[in-house]
Amino acid sequence: MSRRVTAVVAAGENDAIGLDGDLPWHLPDDLRFFMRYTLHKPMIMGRKTFESIGSKPLPKRVNVVVSGSLEAPADGSWLVARDLESALALFPEAEEVIIAGGAGIYAAALPFLTDVRMTRVHASPEAQVFFPIRLEGDWTLVERETHAADKRHAYAFDFEHWKRSGEW
Ligand SMILES: NC(=O)c1ccc[n+]([C@@H]2O[C@H](COP(=O)([O-])OP(=O)(O)OC[C@H]3O[C@@H](n4cnc5c(N)ncnc54)[C@H](OP(=O)(O)O)[C@@H]3O)[C@@H](O)[C@H]2O)c1
Repeated sequence: MSRRVTAVVAAGENDAIGLDGDLPWHLPDDLRFFMRYTLHKPMIMGRKTFESIGSKPLPKRVNVVVSGSLEAPADGSWLVARDLESALALFPEAEEVIIAGGAGIYAAALPFLTDVRMTRVHASPEAQVFFPIRLEGDWTLVERETHAADKRHAYAFDFEHWKRSGEW
């Protein structure tokens, strides 16, 4: 089976993904999905996204930060790649590689993406960063699970799995 390259993203109906170096919402069940889905898989992210998670690697997965300015630590607890292609080249044998954003990383990964795990948040919040990929044309929605708003979640959202034609 060939390697899957999956973008994992939570985006508003206006494609909002980032506000003031953080997410534009607090949705614990989506964070839980993200942590579970990415577990034990190599994960590639931009420097600002890495800073947004406290400049610490997420445990139990290889964390690669795409950056022209950071240096990888000597202890090897996370890695640095100078561009997206070099980051992907680290994992030729992986079953699935995760693309965790932000906007420039998603855009650079587009030619390589086979899947998108999109949490579509039913809100259009203020944001400075937006998901750059239109899920249309050769993209097909293969699965959708809804999550209602509740005491812990200000907005309803859908977990969507999109696949690129030719990849399934
Ligand atoms: N909702 C979501 O699912 C989601 C997911 C991820 C992030 N976010 C949010 O989005 C925001 C961060 O995203 P962002 O787009 O501003 O920044 P980002 O992509 O995380 O980081 C940008 C930095 O990454 C490096 N970089 C990015 N693209 C590159 C490329 N193609 N080649 C080489 N280096 C590249 C550069 O680092 P250097 O300057 O060091 O060279 C660049 O300054 C935060 O608010 C975060 O919370 C949301």
